[in-house]
Amino acid sequence: MAGTRSPLIDAVTYYRDLGVRELWIAESQAAAPPPTAVAAAPPPIAVAAPQPVAVAVAVEPAPPATAPLPTLGELAALVAGCRRCGLCETRTQTVFADGPIRARIFFLGEAPGADEDAQGIPFVGKAGQLLTKMIENGMGIPRRDVYIANVLKCRPPGNRNPEPAEIEQCRGYLERQIELVAPDAIVALGNFAARFLLGTEEGIMRLRGRWGSYRGIPVMPTFHPSFLLRSPEKKKEAWSDLLEVMKKVGLPLPTAAPRAPRETAEPE
Ligand code: URA
Repeated sequence: MAGTRSPLIDAVTYYRDLGVRELWIAESQAAAPPPTAVAAAPPPIAVAAPQPVAVAVAVEPAPPATAPLPTLGELAALVAGCRRCGLCETRTQTVFADGPIRARIFFLGEAPGADEDAQGIPFVGKAGQLLTKMIENGMGIPRRDVYIANVLKCRPPGNRNPEPAEIEQCRGYLERQIELVAPDAIVALGNFAARFLLGTEEGIMRLRGRWGSYRGIPVMPTFHPSFLLRSPEKKKEAWSDLLEVMKKVGLPLPTAAPRAPRETAEPE
């Protein structure tokens, strides 16, 4: 019947909106007749109250499913108190983002390093200084005009790679960040950012320089600045990727030519 939903569908929708991805349903419910059969000939027992649903994962107390999605400020506060993975035990603080909500270009890195963990701001260490130069000296725009964030909001100890489970726990924060900033283009810095956005296992060597898309937003994968510090000869390719981004968002193109290659190393 139009406008009528079964209690089970309501319950499942509620848990889905909380982020729960797996529900266990008792056998007696699984074997129950489908809602259409109930609607056609409702026996008294079929209109019973909502059945309990066994949830297979821990659910933190949350607002009703109808609550509005968090704003950027609320999201930053949620991240600051996040204890969804073990990185909360070793971080100094979370590193949410740097930049204005209305930025046209979103730079996405991997995870905070030691300097970022200490300061609470992404890309402020050596790699960050190179990124800032690429943005300001290369692209000709102030760093304060772009949005910078990472796949993970907490530093992995010893700067190890993010683990898949950590990325999954952090996923919702970044998805909402991108939704709220709604940039014209995203620059994916290195393997982890590119793979997150493009849903691929391909490496950055193959991905870089080719436009991809994340929920309709153009994504340009390029080398991570840490890799460029070790392989400065790759700056030329990174620069050509950034030129593509500038063209895409309609920024005036600079005339200076990039420097030439020298050595090689494994990309991140
Ligand atoms: N590397 C990253 O990926 N992010 C940072 O914030 C700093 C270094």
